[in-house]
Amino acid sequence: MEKQIKEVLDNATAKIASIKTKQELMQASTEFLGKNGALANLMKGLRELPVEQKRVVGEQLNQLRDMLNKLVKDKDAEIETMLLNEKLSQEKVDVTIPVKPMSYGTLHPIEALKKDLINYFVARGFELKDGGDIETDYYCFEALNVPKEHPAREMQDTFYIDNETVLRTHTSAMQVRTMESQQPPIKMISTGNAYRIDEVDATHSPIFNQLEILVVDKNVTLADLIGTIEDLIKHLLGEKTEIRVRPSYFPFTEPSIEVDAVKDGQYIEMLGAGMVHPKVLEMSGIDSNIYKGFAAGLGLDRLAMLKYGVSDLRELYENDINLLKQVK
Ligand code: PHE
Repeated sequence: MEKQIKEVLDNATAKIASIKTKQELMQASTEFLGKNGALANLMKGLRELPVEQKRVVGEQLNQLRDMLNKLVKDKDAEIETMLLNEKLSQEKVDVTIPVKPMSYGTLHPIEALKKDLINYFVARGFELKDGGDIETDYYCFEALNVPKEHPAREMQDTFYIDNETVLRTHTSAMQVRTMESQQPPIKMISTGNAYRIDEVDATHSPIFNQLEILVVDKNVTLADLIGTIEDLIKHLLGEKTEIRVRPSYFPFTEPSIEVDAVKDGQYIEMLGAGMVHPKVLEMSGIDSNIYKGFAAGLGLDRLAMLKYGVSDLRELYENDINLLKQVK
């Protein structure tokens, strides 16, 4: 019996040692430990043994079972490790393979323009003021010398929330808010949405972006205004850009001008501007005998069209990737 036990163990050890797959291991496990396996056979032989030997051999068979179990278990662990290593080596990342370049998002052309303008003016000592889209009639019109029945309201009369509250028709409201809150010298810009009754077409939209410029100090002149604007337009459209200044009318500036840029032999309307009307200064608590000011309002949408070669304003709002990608 002892000899048989040793034989089974030797067989199992040799067989299991050469095994490479789970399937083979399962077969071997059945062969040695299964219901009709080698161990079970030996167990059957136990019955025929005399009582005194039964205990000793029984003990040996128990040991054999433990050893066989251990052989199978160790092999199983070995195969697991092998499989894992194989998987790891196959899934290794080759960091030397060139990857497709990632495509990054860009700022919207109008946002890019705003950022550029803010940097431009802040570098020149202007303060950036943040204003709200919802304004009162007073800041949007009244304090800018546009009383209730003034015809200038007609062009802008727009989105009223109630009699006193309106979606601002221009960022000029920020002129008033700034002058009310601080005495000169003032150098400020403010940018954001403006809202008007305009129908949507290739060059108009009821929502558009403006940049407001305001300077109030002693001895501020129209020449300062024109010089500032000329420098700004050259920054935006190139050093060689020429400008044309035309007389215009705004109730809150006197005199008022409009400035065109000359691009490809054509005049392009860039902005409205003027010397802050003394009445406007006074209404905001600034002594117009001591101080003068100039102000300008620049439409950013048309400027973005010009800069990025867009012929229809609506294209700026269509999220066309090819257009957006032009912003660097
Ligand atoms: N607020 C004017 C507009 O929206 C532009 C402007 C601003 C004109 C400042 C003069 C001074 O048309």
